Amino acid sequence: MTIRWHHFDTIDSTNTIALQGISSGKFTQGDVIWADEQTRGKGNGNNHWESEHGKNLTFSLVLTPHFIQPQHQFRITQAISVALHQTLNTLLPKEKCSIKWPNDLYVNNKKIGGILIQNMIKGNSIQATVAGIGLNVNQEIFRSEAPNPVSVIHFTKTNTPLFPLLKDIVARIMQQMKQLEHKPDWPPLNEKYLNALFQKDCWARYADDNGVFEGKITGVDSYGRLQLLDRSHQLRTYAFKEIRFLY
Ligand code: BTN
Repeated sequence: MTIRWHHFDTIDSTNTIALQGISSGKFTQGDVIWADEQTRGKGNGNNHWESEHGKNLTFSLVLTPHFIQPQHQFRITQAISVALHQTLNTLLPKEKCSIKWPNDLYVNNKKIGGILIQNMIKGNSIQATVAGIGLNVNQEIFRSEAPNPVSVIHFTKTNTPLFPLLKDIVARIMQQMKQLEHKPDWPPLNEKYLNALFQKDCWARYADDNGVFEGKITGVDSYGRLQLLDRSHQLRTYAFKEIRFLY
């Protein structure tokens, strides 16, 4: 698979440029749009994604996973999170790297990276996916209200070159996607995702619309909803934004 690199100094958001490029026919599977700086970097919800000029990875990879049905789009989230988790593990072998459901990358209990996936769906098929990834690499000070940011440099104490890291992540994502193309319900992907899941099988405090409770994450369902057991042995299932982690 050929990867085409499109590097920008400053743009509004790599996801926005990628989506526009797909619509105009300029971009397709294998195009990577990466920027030294985004003036309107988007996080999940309405959040802004903070990233200092030239310090971190902020990029979007275009995929065309026609072989995944829209109801199984969480498989894409899993493939991308697992790929990033693998990169982090090789970069920071002494730290505890994990995936905080659904797709935040954590080191110990701090967020080092985030993923914003935007799928273009037509009828019953995914026409294209924009996998937008922000990974904090060489930024030491964060100014936004993001609660717990951390960077690779906080652990390595030295600058990490960005392009080799970008190539490694993209290669790993392509590898996971290839497995899914071959077998869309490829079980090892789910296993890898669950093995990397932050707070899995540990009692911790969470909050939902009914208040605070103690729960133990047991897994995710096929739609990507989080499953937890509470202290009364009830299985609770949550979609994104229906539950908050308290720690
Ligand atoms: C999150 O809120 O955790 C998701 C953050 C995703 C940020 C990345 S940076 C590259 C791409 N372009 C964007 O505007 N957002 C994503």
